[in-house]
Amino acid sequence: MARARAMAEAGYNTFLLRSEDVYIDLLTDSGTSAMSDRQWAGLMLGDEAYAGSRNFYHLVEAIQTYYGYKHVVPTHQGRGAEHLISQAMIKPGDFIPGNMYFTTTRLHQELAGGTFVDVIIDEAHDSTNLHPFKGDIDLDKLQALIDKVGPEHIPYVSVAGTVNMAGGQPISMGNIKAVYELAHRYGIRVYLDATRMMENALFIQEREEGYADKSIAEILKEFCSYTDGAWMSAKKDNLVNIGGWLATNDEDVFEKARNMVVIYEGLHTYGGMSGRDMEALAIGITEAVQDDYVRARVGQVRYLGELLVDWGIPIVQPIGGHAIFLDAKRFYPHIPQDEFPAQTLAADIYIDSGVRTMERGVVSAGRDPETGAHRHPKLELVRITIPRRVYTQAHMDVVAESVKAVWDKRESARGLKMVYEPKYLRFFQARFERL
Ligand code: F0G
Repeated sequence: MARARAMAEAGYNTFLLRSEDVYIDLLTDSGTSAMSDRQWAGLMLGDEAYAGSRNFYHLVEAIQTYYGYKHVVPTHQGRGAEHLISQAMIKPGDFIPGNMYFTTTRLHQELAGGTFVDVIIDEAHDSTNLHPFKGDIDLDKLQALIDKVGPEHIPYVSVAGTVNMAGGQPISMGNIKAVYELAHRYGIRVYLDATRMMENALFIQEREEGYADKSIAEILKEFCSYTDGAWMSAKKDNLVNIGGWLATNDEDVFEKARNMVVIYEGLHTYGGMSGRDMEALAIGITEAVQDDYVRARVGQVRYLGELLVDWGIPIVQPIGGHAIFLDAKRFYPHIPQDEFPAQTLAADIYIDSGVRTMERGVVSAGRDPETGAHRHPKLELVRITIPRRVYTQAHMDVVAESVKAVWDKRESARGLKMVYEPKYLRFFQARFERL
């Protein structure tokens, strides 16, 4: 069978498939969304001056208007901004508390000499717990870290909206406000990974008292007001295929980041993007805060998730903002974590139907830099990620039916062994063989 052969040739890693061999591509919502007619028109207005492009100023204005930060440094994508913020703020030996790790975010913090400390609430690590804000920070855990290492060794709290690795779970307005107050009492800053903040804003509107009548734009701006700055993978929420930015109210951070961007990304008025990219991005920001759009986007994710729940298939609940996360530990309970159940499940779904998903478990978690041992995250998940404005409800039906077909023959599934492992972010390039 052609797909079984393609999967074996790709080392049972969905990142190593050719997109031509994929039927419905739910690997990621990163850079895979459809740009609107207005954004495509914006591409024609590119001002490709090396310095001071008009499109850069449009971008700054959009970020100031909707996120409310003072200064902007453009970057080629999110990890470019993570690199700059980590190098600008972290000293060797520092600790960076956050609401669950993200792969590239944590690596940049470690490369800058820091240690990431997970201070998310315990409920986030349990795929069946129905807490409405599983992205919340546990204030006691944060306080305990401050007491243990001292505020001078914590450059900032690293807060993510719609926590990716927890299953797309939101953080509440009440929580970010409390985190900001606690951190600032000790002179610690709060920086936001704003990658999926629009979806987070919708959950606040739906679930938190006092926000039902507020718009996504109003909620976003209030949320950002309890942070000192943000970094952004514009490839998600800002509806472009490439781009990113860093924004801050802190003069010192701005000065350092603006200086460093010219070394690693490009001049401080383009940072690795072309003028036309920045125009499409500025327009994308104005489209991404529209309530109807965010509701339709999260509604499509929910449609898929509810089908799977109805059929008794184990997923992370509540259903998150950008993806459905299959719980591979409950899906393949007979496959031990060191035989990569989530990696196996992603491969099996592809072989069944050509639907591409990705592993978010022990492979993504990587190795502990101190001990070299596999990290064993409690959550061993397969992410079925929905790009924005691309697929229809009929596509979601095909995906659900394929997951059901794999579920029905789950007992015969066999795990994998890793035969090639790169040093950094191994999930992108690791290779496996069937046991
Ligand atoms: N932060 C979060 C929460 C992300 O999900 C990503 C990327 C980044 C930062 C890095 O941004 O890719 O533009 O360099 N997430 C992608 C994903 C890769 O598939 O979830 P980037």
